[in-house]
Amino acid sequence: MKIKSICCIGAGYVGGPTMSVIAQKNPNIKVTVVDINKDRIDAWNSVDLSKLPIYEPGLDKVVSESRGRNLFFSTDVDKAIFDSEMIFISVNTPTKTYGAGKGMAADLKYVELCARQIAKVSKSDKIIVEKSTLPVKTAEAIKNILDNTGSGVHFDILSNPEFLAEGTAIKDLEFPDRVLIGGEQTTEGNLAINKLVQIYSSWVDSTKIVTTNLWSSELSKLTANAFLAQRISSINSLSELCEKTGADIDEVATAIGMDSRIGSKFLKTSVGFGGSCFQKDILNLVYICKSLGINEVADYWEQVIIMNNHQRTRFAKNILTSLYNTVAGKKITILGWSFKKDTNDTRESAAIYVADNLIDEEASIHVYDPKVSAKQMHLDLNNLNSREKSLNTRMLNVEESPYDASKNSHAIAILTEWDEFKGYDWEKIYASMNKPAFIFDGRNILDKTKLEKIGFIYKAIGKQ
Ligand code: UDX
Ligand code: ADP
Repeated sequence: MKIKSICCIGAGYVGGPTMSVIAQKNPNIKVTVVDINKDRIDAWNSVDLSKLPIYEPGLDKVVSESRGRNLFFSTDVDKAIFDSEMIFISVNTPTKTYGAGKGMAADLKYVELCARQIAKVSKSDKIIVEKSTLPVKTAEAIKNILDNTGSGVHFDILSNPEFLAEGTAIKDLEFPDRVLIGGEQTTEGNLAINKLVQIYSSWVDSTKIVTTNLWSSELSKLTANAFLAQRISSINSLSELCEKTGADIDEVATAIGMDSRIGSKFLKTSVGFGGSCFQKDILNLVYICKSLGINEVADYWEQVIIMNNHQRTRFAKNILTSLYNTVAGKKITILGWSFKKDTNDTRESAAIYVADNLIDEEASIHVYDPKVSAKQMHLDLNNLNSREKSLNTRMLNVEESPYDASKNSHAIAILTEWDEFKGYDWEKIYASMNKPAFIFDGRNILDKTKLEKIGFIYKAIGKQ
């Protein structure tokens, strides 16, 4: 029997796009995405598709095709759970900010609440799918809660980690490198796995659907992100060496990436990786290793985070030293606040930390980002708790255009690789700035020769 009704708890960056694509590819399955956040659900239901709560290229088209047909967004969590045969848990699992494992372990309170709610409401057998990134063995905890608090109905637990990257979510969902489904190695477990395989088979080739046991699936997600982040920290560590020796980091990356064993992707040096996953998942991995007493393994992975923090701080310090060791009272422009281009997500974005460092030095920060709201930027900075909120409000100015942001400024820091930055009228920007005018390219996306010809002092990461 094929699944006919699905619900997804959590209408965020993962749940929203994933369910939209599942609904688009499976018109015969009713897909309901629920969230406790009413504003978010209202935004998913907005008639004006430019008002969807997350910005993701191509998402509007996918949503408009299925919404109202077999894709629904709602705040009625209980009804959706009750009506569905398969329930995806796609709620947030941030790093814990309190108690045991503070700053390292994943906070599972939202997941646990979901499990308890599912147990309370369910009156028929259900397949529960872990979609959020979770520590290994979380499925066991979910199963315990469901079996001990439910009213006798049968639950199968699957792990189906999401590998989409923000900014390319729709493409990643439509053409995944692989779909990973972990389940219990029992007859019932295998039946549940097959039901989820059928859903993905509507558009994914069967050779790309990998089935494993539960723990392998959970651990693979954490380690995939750890490996990816490790590559960025590796190339970023070398960027500092390049600056001291005269080697060019982009040339080094090209040269080593041509070795087919290394591969060319994910070797772009930057001001540091951000996003909701890399740091959180590595901290989680480190915490698990420490809990198991394998400290050498924990230290090995922790170094990836240490290097990333160093890259952000080093970038801010470079601005300070280049501007004659003082930025106090100087206007500094930040172009780009999101953690990468083509998304409005700012979680763990390097821009937050660079701005914070520069405000410590009493610089006046003026930011322009094409997709991030002023409210979000202030929230991000305030969440660091570095100083009085009123001081943040005074020091962080959000501008409507790059030209306003750079007028009378001493330096520009490029912190996100938005394509539009390349097309600006840089002569006009230069003319409006204080001299000497600096550009610190945290993404190495601009044309050094052209900018230097205009008069800028141009500094890229990993270049002398
Ligand atoms: C990541 C994983 O790629 C994805 O598979 C997983 O499901 C979630 O975490 P995401 O965080 O959305 O996705 O974006 P990603 O493209 O991986 O970029 C993460 C950060 O690394 C960004 O800040 C990006 O700018 C940075 N990055 C990426 C680099 O600095 N250099 C690179 O070469 C690649
Ligand atoms: P991700 O990037 O993992 O998708 P988000 O924070 O963007 O994370 O989305 C998670 C969503 O889950 C949020 O919109 C949040 O309101 C929602 N959520 C958390 N707990 C619950 C719950 N118990 N019931 C319904 N929605 C929840």
